[in-house]
Amino acid sequence: MAKRFAVVNQKGGVGKTTSAVNLGAYMAEAGRRVLLVDLDPQANATSAFGLSGTVRRCVYEVLLGNASLADVSVKSEQPTLDITPSCSDLAGAEVELVAQMAREFRLQRALDKVDDQYDVILIDCPPSLGLLTINALSGASDVLVPVQCEYLALEGLSQLVQTLELVKRNLNQSLKLTGLILTMFDGRTNLSAQVVTEVRRHFPQTFETVIPRSVRLSEAPSHGKTILGYDPSSRGAKAYQKLAHEVLERIGLPAIPAGESSGQRDAAGDPGRAVAAVGGDANGTSTG
Ligand SMILES: Nc1ncnc2c1ncn2[C@@H]1O[C@H](COP(=O)(O)OP(=O)(O)O)[C@@H](O)[C@H]1O
Ligand SMILES: [Mg+2]
Repeated sequence: MAKRFAVVNQKGGVGKTTSAVNLGAYMAEAGRRVLLVDLDPQANATSAFGLSGTVRRCVYEVLLGNASLADVSVKSEQPTLDITPSCSDLAGAEVELVAQMAREFRLQRALDKVDDQYDVILIDCPPSLGLLTINALSGASDVLVPVQCEYLALEGLSQLVQTLELVKRNLNQSLKLTGLILTMFDGRTNLSAQVVTEVRRHFPQTFETVIPRSVRLSEAPSHGKTILGYDPSSRGAKAYQKLAHEVLERIGLPAIPAGESSGQRDAAGDPGRAVAAVGGDANGTSTG
């Protein structure tokens, strides 16, 4: 089973997309096979990979049952990182799904079909607790909550926790709040340090790695790159690398040493055929 992370906070601008994109990059760099699903109609994760202009079919088609995840997903520049793009059509899905059967489980069913091809699936959620986010929570095993180190950081978190409990009780028993991610930390202000203390006091499962405020992190998407592709020596890059390893450790999927691989992906194949094409070859290393 792939570990499936919903990256959730109903507040906008807290670092959900930045975290999903860069955790994806560094989990892939750590040797894991990763699918990043952009579930936000604003499609910021999609454009962070420079894909916006090229999207013909997006996750909207998957939710409505007109396409599979393998049909619409595309490869990134990293060999073990695939992207399921979003597009503005998705804005209508919330309304269109209301009349459909099993509307809360559309994403879960689609994920089940590609589950064995990935170690990790990251779902970048929109800034609301509507039907799209509910689909993400129904289909996820784990929840990551980015929290901005700013005034009122904790505001809204009790409502979020309540929603998680409701989903757990009614839709997905195995859902777990795996950790909170402190983002945009500014070491020059007392406020940032206070927020860190306060969030940790309420949520002991907050990750140890704190993401600093870094201009490089905010520039990378405009170049269509993750921070790994844009400036891997920057502070923000190092922080997301460390966080990716911390998250992987916590879920019992540690980074794989370079030279080994977690599965034999067909480098030339599309995500839909990636695993099936290998056919029992146990050789995961290559000297080429
Ligand atoms: N650590 C950071 N340092 C500086 N800017 C950041 C950082 N994290 C996110 N940003 C910027 O803040 C804005 C909101 O972040 P984003 O990840 O899009 O939040 P969300 O997905 O929660 O709406 C974006 O412009 C992003 O580039
Ligand atoms: Mg976002």
